[in-house]
Amino acid sequence: MAHNILEINNLSRQFKIGGMLLGKKIVAVDKVDLKLPGDKPQIMSIVGESGCGKTTLARMILRLQEPSSGDIRLDGTPLSHYDKRQHRKEFLKKVQPIFQNPFTSFSMRKTVDTYLFETALNLEIAKTKQEAQRIVSEVLHSVGLELNHISGKYPNQFSGGELQRISIARALIPKPSLIVADEPVAMIDASLRMNIVNLFKKLKDEYKVNFIYITHDLSTAYYVSDYIATMYRGQLIEFGDARNILNKPSHPYTELLLDSIPRVGKKWNEDMVLPDMEDKEYGLNGCKFANRCMYAQDICRSIDPNKVYIDPEHMVLCFKHNDYK
Ligand SMILES: Nc1ncnc2c1ncn2[C@@H]1O[C@H](COP(=O)(O)OP(=O)(O)OP(=O)(O)O)[C@@H](O)[C@H]1O
Ligand code: SF4
Ligand SMILES: [Mg+2]
Repeated sequence: MAHNILEINNLSRQFKIGGMLLGKKIVAVDKVDLKLPGDKPQIMSIVGESGCGKTTLARMILRLQEPSSGDIRLDGTPLSHYDKRQHRKEFLKKVQPIFQNPFTSFSMRKTVDTYLFETALNLEIAKTKQEAQRIVSEVLHSVGLELNHISGKYPNQFSGGELQRISIARALIPKPSLIVADEPVAMIDASLRMNIVNLFKKLKDEYKVNFIYITHDLSTAYYVSDYIATMYRGQLIEFGDARNILNKPSHPYTELLLDSIPRVGKKWNEDMVLPDMEDKEYGLNGCKFANRCMYAQDICRSIDPNKVYIDPEHMVLCFKHNDYK
């Protein structure tokens, strides 16, 4: 039976904002179920406008944030297994992060090559300095850089694009099975974004590594994804094979987002965030998209839509598709 590299079941995370009495609850991630098949390496993009819960979901997968409820399994093993001190390195060998701002991923007082060597030695990927040098040269070469060009240099001597390549190289050192990249190109010059994202595609096959690529930038997700997960107000509202979703978006919100694709580099949140509506939508009964949906019916405003599987790998959370049940 095919196994899942990542399996997320009924995962939620709430935040309380404001005081004890007058504070309110934000459900940043709301009962998310997600499976990333492990038969071959995949790139899964998580897309959606600002505040929909992408980073909170990523941080829970990276064990940087505790879920309020639900569970996450990596290759069948619950993440709680890695809570034990003796298993923490094991986790870092399997799952690596790439963050939005490469300048905060590196210590400004340490040369970049030292940092890479330390990663190889601390994670026990290399036993000697020579072995670390061989591994670091190899990963740098894979991202289009050479060790002798970066040796002895500090992070501020690189451009954002170069430094992000170096953080990708760092993430590759343990040959992880999953890399979680949260908006990795958001701070990079628009003309260089596709180069970085295309690199994910190359590395996916070269290192047999799965990527979760979190982005606002639908145009980049369009070219590299095997799977697309769309989030809206904390909920996973559509998930499936990228080709199916791009050719036949089934949730009205995904449909709306896809209309923006031809405008390369466009960020969804520029047009679509309605901040004054956000808080109200979090607490709405029924479908959270109903106020913006041209297909909304009375039922959409009173009952939560259930998951409908258009095919075994294509899920949508919308009443419009209830005939497929
Ligand atoms: N530590 C926190 N405390 C309180 N609220 C939080 C916290 N972290 C996130 N939130 C809230 O949870 C919701 C989801 O935030 P999250 O950062 O996950 O969204 P996002 O999709 O990554 O947004 P962006 O595209 O802007 O990065 C937002 O309403 C946010 O304000
Ligand atoms: S459930 Fe109703 S309101 Fe929500 S997206 Fe579907 S049709 Fe629109
Ligand atoms: Mg975010």
